[in-house]
Amino acid sequence: MPKSDSANSIRQLRSGSSLPQHVAVIMDGNGRWATQRRLPRIAGHSEGVKRVRELVSVCAEKGIKYLTLFAFSSENWRRPKLEVKYLIELFVSALDEELKKLQENNIKFRVIGQIDRFGENAVRKIKNAEALTRGNDRLALTIAANYGGRWDIAQACAELARRAQEGKIEVDAITPELIEASLSMHDTPDPDLFIRTGGEQRVSNFLLWQLAYTELYFVPILWPDFDRSQFDLAMDSYVARQRRFGLTGEQIEAIRQA
Ligand code: IPE
Ligand code: IPE
Ligand code: MG
Repeated sequence: MPKSDSANSIRQLRSGSSLPQHVAVIMDGNGRWATQRRLPRIAGHSEGVKRVRELVSVCAEKGIKYLTLFAFSSENWRRPKLEVKYLIELFVSALDEELKKLQENNIKFRVIGQIDRFGENAVRKIKNAEALTRGNDRLALTIAANYGGRWDIAQACAELARRAQEGKIEVDAITPELIEASLSMHDTPDPDLFIRTGGEQRVSNFLLWQLAYTELYFVPILWPDFDRSQFDLAMDSYVARQRRFGLTGEQIEAIRQA
């Protein structure tokens, strides 16, 4: 079922100043963290994995239901070959090490993006982890890998064009809801809060469609330094905001009190 935009917004309005249900993160600054310490960039990526573990635990503890992390963009293939190779190896080995813990902690794992390019071994391990954790419902952890927001929208449009060509849908029936239902995140509510570490204030082709009404939080802290206390500051910033979704502040108050 496609998520309805208005149902989504009303749910978010009613939740008032409660914590976000879905947090999406661009984990940026690993390379700079390492360079500052005269270490190779890959040392920053290794340290970054520790913060991923920590963040997953913190979100589970706080009752956040969805956590989506940008691990590798479709543009990151342009990096030096060795760094790309290391990033893929690091991802696969972290998954090997964490799978048991994901199961124990009732965490559902999945990857969005064109994973085929990572090779057979990685694809097999990803599919296996997804299958094993499918029934878990404490926290849904989504890793965006070889993912790009433009690719996601394009593949959804191609899918709908195919269905129209086969006569299964009318062209005029193509609405935002129908496009949304063909996106990689179709079964997940849009992010309430977007966090980008590392100081850059851009979206870098992450969840372009889904971020339409997300609260944005940019922080100069480099990802390997983004610990629990930093996450709490992001939560504080989120709860202090009033989300309006096009309505007036007075309308929002009335909905909250209803
Ligand atoms: C983010 O850190 C990790 C990936 C993009 C895989 P960077 O590697 O981009 O770190 P900086 O931005 O160069 O410091
Ligand atoms: C975005 O970071 C992608 C990930 C964190 C995986 P980048 O470091 O690749 O983004 P740009 O190139 O600075 O925009
Ligand atoms: Mg970067």
